[in-house]
Amino acid sequence: MNIAIIGKGNVGTALAAGLIAAGHRVIFGVRNPDKPNGTPLQGAEYMGLLDAMKEARIIILATPPTAAPAVAGLFQGLAESSEKTLIDTTNSLFQKPEMYASAYQALEQITGRSVVKCFNSTGAENMANPRYESGAIPMFFCGGSETDKALTRQLCEDLGFSESYDLGGPEAAPMLEQFAGLWIRLSRQGMGRQFAFQLVRR
Ligand SMILES: NC(=O)c1ccc[n+]([C@@H]2O[C@H](COP(=O)([O-])OP(=O)(O)OC[C@H]3O[C@@H](n4cnc5c(N)ncnc54)[C@H](OP(=O)(O)O)[C@@H]3O)[C@@H](O)[C@H]2O)c1
Repeated sequence: MNIAIIGKGNVGTALAAGLIAAGHRVIFGVRNPDKPNGTPLQGAEYMGLLDAMKEARIIILATPPTAAPAVAGLFQGLAESSEKTLIDTTNSLFQKPEMYASAYQALEQITGRSVVKCFNSTGAENMANPRYESGAIPMFFCGGSETDKALTRQLCEDLGFSESYDLGGPEAAPMLEQFAGLWIRLSRQGMGRQFAFQLVRR
């Protein structure tokens, strides 16, 4: 599948590597395609934001939350935007777009369509490699479209997460950001970045 990742930072690069390994075509949407951020990732393509979004069936936002309104504006202008899945990985815990409670809210309100929230609730290292000695970790998502969520679930599987849990509609997005906050707090309290939450059942 053609997947555009907007932002080639920690999260964008981690997701891209796994998705390329799973056989997807990954196009980074970057501000300067001739000089993309960091070391080039083998197998990835680089385009301007709009061109990357035009090419893709799935668009993954992996920028600071403040970039969301501009990206949403570009998305809204796409002729076939209704046929594309938009996934938001951002956390607006420490900064948010002006006039919006979160990047997720900005994406929904500006594009006027449903957005999946996923790949925000754990560190980028766990997205690059979700496998621990004790087994793979789970991923969590929410959103308003069943079609978009089914595609997201497939990506979680392709990336090697054990299971992915659908938390429901868009109202669950703030909860997913708070869940990310729990991981971030523990990380900053000395836990480092090589840890994850596991889900066990009796
Ligand atoms: N890091 C984590 O472990 C983690 C985990 C879960 C969720 N998140 C969330 O994921 C998002 C990305 O985090 P990250 O750590 O990957 O950030 P990052 O390493 O700082 O990368 C952000 C990327 O966004 C691009 N960017 C910045 N402003 C932009 C704009 N206005 N338009 C287009 N591209 C822009 C940057 O490109 P340039 O090189 O051109 O500046 C950079 O490639 C954040 O919202 C964060 O809250 C992060």
